[in-house]
Amino acid sequence: RNNKTMDTVQEILIDVFGKAIADAFPDLPDPPIVIALSGNNPKFGDYQCNSALPIANSYKQSGTKISPPEIAKKIVAKVASTELIEKLDIAGPGFINIFLNRSYGIKKLTAILRNGLLPPSCTKKRVLVDFSSPNVAKEMHVGHLRSTIIGESICRLLEYLGHDVIRINHVGDWGTQFGMLIAHLQDKFPNYLQNPPPIGDLQAFYKESKTRFDEDPEFKKRAYICVVKLQAHEPEYLEGWKLICDVSRKEFQKVYDRLDIKIIERGESFYQKMMESVVKELQEKGFLEEDEGRKIMWGKKRVGIPLTIVKSDGGFTYDTSDIAAIKHRLEVDKVEWIIYITDAGQATHFEILWKCAEHVGILNRKIHRVDHIGFGVVLGEDKKKFKTRSGDTVRLCDLLDEGLKRALDKLKEKNRHQVLSPEELKKAQESIAYGCIKYADLSHNLNNEYVFSFDKMLEDKGNTAVYLLYAYTRICSIARTANYTPKKIKELSKTVTITLDHDKEWKLGKVLIRFPDVLLKITKELLLHPLCEYVYEIATTFTEFYDSCYCIEKDASGDIIKVNDSRILLTEVTAIVMAKCFDILGLKPVSKM
Ligand code: ARG
Repeated sequence: RNNKTMDTVQEILIDVFGKAIADAFPDLPDPPIVIALSGNNPKFGDYQCNSALPIANSYKQSGTKISPPEIAKKIVAKVASTELIEKLDIAGPGFINIFLNRSYGIKKLTAILRNGLLPPSCTKKRVLVDFSSPNVAKEMHVGHLRSTIIGESICRLLEYLGHDVIRINHVGDWGTQFGMLIAHLQDKFPNYLQNPPPIGDLQAFYKESKTRFDEDPEFKKRAYICVVKLQAHEPEYLEGWKLICDVSRKEFQKVYDRLDIKIIERGESFYQKMMESVVKELQEKGFLEEDEGRKIMWGKKRVGIPLTIVKSDGGFTYDTSDIAAIKHRLEVDKVEWIIYITDAGQATHFEILWKCAEHVGILNRKIHRVDHIGFGVVLGEDKKKFKTRSGDTVRLCDLLDEGLKRALDKLKEKNRHQVLSPEELKKAQESIAYGCIKYADLSHNLNNEYVFSFDKMLEDKGNTAVYLLYAYTRICSIARTANYTPKKIKELSKTVTITLDHDKEWKLGKVLIRFPDVLLKITKELLLHPLCEYVYEIATTFTEFYDSCYCIEKDASGDIIKVNDSRILLTEVTAIVMAKCFDILGLKPVSKM
C-alpha cells in the first residue's frame, strides 16, 4: 500500500494509527486497527480509534496485564502529527477520539471545486457485470427489473472508479421453451418465413403455446422435435427462433431505453458452439459422471448439488451455458472479475458453478474474483409476491407507465405556484417516476426482500428520491437567487477560499469529504444502500447548515444586500457531490421541478 496515494480520511487514519500502534507495541504480530465514525455527539470527535480494547485482550491472553486506557495513551503518544488531525482525546475505557482539522477539510473542498470530484484511487480491474438477463418470450418481471437497476448502478460505480467494465445481458434465449413456441408459430403463422408475423403480445403467445403443450400430447411431441431441429440448426427453425427473439428484444429494449440502461446482449445462445466443445473437453478429462441418464459434474468435493451438464435427452442446460460462459469470459475476454446479479435463490447455483470451474482449472480464485449479488424478492403491498390483481406478472411497461402517472400527480400537488413548460414538466415527470422506482430499490439493503409501493416511494419526506431530487433542485437554485452564473462560480472557486468557521459549515464539510470513503466501502461490500444513506445525510446536513447560516441576506423589500461567497461555494460543492451520487444511482436531477 506504500505507493498508493492516500486520498480518503479512513485510509489516512488507518495508516497513521497503524504505524503508531506498530510503534507502540512492536511485539504484537498483527494488531487490530479499528477506526470508526464517532456518531452524533460532537464530544466524541469525528472518528474513533477503538484498538485499545482488543489489544488489551490479546495481552491478557498471553498473561500480561495492561489496561485499555494505558494502551490508548501509548498509542496517542506515537501518533505522528498530520494535517488531518486537530487533536486526540482519550475517553473512558480507552477509546481514542479523533478531531479532524478544518484546514484539511478546506483543502479537500477547494480541490473538488478546482479539479472536479475525482474518484479515490484503486487497483483497476477488467470486470464483467452479468445483469438484467431476462428470458425470451417470458415477460421481463420485477425480479429482472431489480437486477437491471442494481446492475446498472454497480457498473456506473465501477466505471467511475476507473475499472474497465463489460456489461453483459445473459438473456435466456436457448431453452427448451423454443420447441413449443416454434411449433405454435408454425400453426398460427404458416407463412412466417415469407411474412414476419405481427406478434405484438409475446406473453399471450407464450401462454397459448404453453396451454397446448400441457394439454395436447401430439403438440408436445412436435415441440420436442422442434427443439432438436433448432439445436441442429435447421434454417427454418433457426428463422422462427430468431423471429421470436427479435420480438422479445424490442420489448426489453423499450424498458432499457426508458430507464437509460446500457447493456450488451450476449445470451445463452451465444455459447452454443462453446457448450459443445466444453462438454467434449470435460468428458475427455473425466469430469463428467453418469447419473440416471444425465451427465453431471461435481466440484473438488462432492457436496451440495452437482451441475447438470447434459440432460438425458442429450440437450444442454442453464448450467452448461454458465460453464461455457465463465470459460469464455476468463479465457477470451480475459476479465479478472465477474459479478453476477440475480435473485438470492440462485446463490447455490453460482457457488457450485465456481467450485466446478475451479476444479476443472477454468477459474483461479488467486487471480480471479467472482461475486454473486443476490437480492431479495420484490413483494406487493400485501407482502405477497408482486402480482397484478388478476394474479399475472406485472408487465414492466405498465409499471413504468403507472410511475409516470403518479409522478405527474405528485408534481401537480407540489407545484401549485410554479409554472413549468411542457418540456420541463416531462423531464421532471420522468426524473421522478424512474428515479423513485430505482431509488426505492437501491436504498434498501439488497439482500432483503422489499415491498414495492408507489405511495411510499413517492413520499416527499424521508429518504426517498422525491425528497432528494427536490432538495437538490433547491440547492442549485441558491446561486441563481444570488444572480451567480456558473461562470461566476468558476471564477470564485479560483480566488475565494471556503471558510468553515461556523459549526454547521464544518459539519457539512466533514460529510462531503467522506465521499471517497463511502465509495470504497460500497465497492468492497457491493451494496448500494450506504450510498443512499450518505446522499440523504448530505441533504439533511445541508438543511441544518442552511437553516443557521445565511448564504444570501436580503432587506425587508427582498433586495439582496449581501452574498456570502464562501457559503455559495460550499453549496456548490454540496451540489457536485450529490450530483455524483445521483449519477451512480441512475437518478437524473432536473434544475426545475
Ligand atoms: N436468465 C436467468 C434468470 O432469469 C438469469 C441469468 C443470470 N446470469 C447467468 N450467467 N446465469 O433467472
